[in-house]
Amino acid sequence: MLRPSNARRAIVLALILATACGQAPAPSLAPAATLKDAFRGAFRVGAALNSDQFFERDARGAALVKAQFNTITAENALKWEHVHPRPNTYDFAASDQYVAFGEKNGMFLVGHTLVWHNQTPRWVFEDASGKPVGRDTLLARMRDHIQTVVGRYKGRIKGWDVVNEALNEDGTLRRSPWLTIIGDDYIVKAFEYAHEADSAAELYYNDYSVENAAKRNGAVQLITKLKAQGVPVAAIGLQGHDKMDWPTPAQQDSTIVALAKLGVKVNITELDVDVLPPAVQNRTADVSMRAQQDPRTNPYASGLPDSVQRALAARYASLFQVFLAHRDVIDRVTFWGVGDGDSWLNNWPVPGRVSYPLLFDRQDSPKLAFDAVIRTARQMRAEK
Ligand code: XIL
Repeated sequence: MLRPSNARRAIVLALILATACGQAPAPSLAPAATLKDAFRGAFRVGAALNSDQFFERDARGAALVKAQFNTITAENALKWEHVHPRPNTYDFAASDQYVAFGEKNGMFLVGHTLVWHNQTPRWVFEDASGKPVGRDTLLARMRDHIQTVVGRYKGRIKGWDVVNEALNEDGTLRRSPWLTIIGDDYIVKAFEYAHEADSAAELYYNDYSVENAAKRNGAVQLITKLKAQGVPVAAIGLQGHDKMDWPTPAQQDSTIVALAKLGVKVNITELDVDVLPPAVQNRTADVSMRAQQDPRTNPYASGLPDSVQRALAARYASLFQVFLAHRDVIDRVTFWGVGDGDSWLNNWPVPGRVSYPLLFDRQDSPKLAFDAVIRTARQMRAEK
């Protein structure tokens, strides 16, 4: 087997030979091009990192992150179940390292996430006998959690996903334990506690499928209400767990326009594009969905056909055209993972599929989609 550096040399040699023989290969923009440089002046470009990357056990992944991105999000390390697994136990081993990695590399650090209904232990909502706690107890727990976690990284983690996924698909508020126990104002309270803990941090509301009309209307109402109450919402995060045909560029565009009108920034926070056939009816990004393994929903187990690779590149180019057109209101575009091998879509909603949603492949090499995204940035610059 070729070592990666030898493999790269072999590829360069093959390209030179192919060119010399008159076959023009698609010019690779790698490795010199970087996402963070291509979009400098427009928005930051980031990735969600797993612990192997920020502890640098995955040395290749860590090197790629340093080269390509100027903002990072912890994929799991700051979620309640990891950072605060038991009532009086906080565990900051992973999140401290995440922050150290980001600071060492001069990156904008995002904290994900403070108040969510997933990856939050049951004890949070229950008393010692397993019965639901009352409003005051849950508010006190929420405040302690937010103040401890945000306070620890005050001035260092620059932006927080304060509330994640509070909306249903029809735009109403999700009946999570947060809502049923505390009431509608749990969202305001979460932002209030986060602001108390670090008044300089940017505070975000983050959700998926906001591009669909009903949910978008719900998001507009929610943000409007929060702003009217003086809640310092800096941005709405569109997760961006996209499909090849959804959202359409027009839907993406009108969603950004509708939200930006409210006077908040609109960030793309968890971008990936799923090329696999849908395995569940309701194609949202609800992490609690599960589907059975079935070879029909895992068609590219031994590799992605060129035609799909090219279609993915075109899809990414059209999404980034929309993002660039709105660079005045977009501060950040963050991918949910670095290379395809890291993506949560290999295990959601079906365990053990082979997914191809990102710009780098399983060897962390740039895909055609990477080149397409870089070209989109360069075209936009040339047109300016
Ligand atoms: C996912 C992680 O990527 C997985 O590793 C984990 O097992 C489940 O959560 N929306 C979110 C993210 O806001 O936190 C989710 O991340 C993906 C969907």
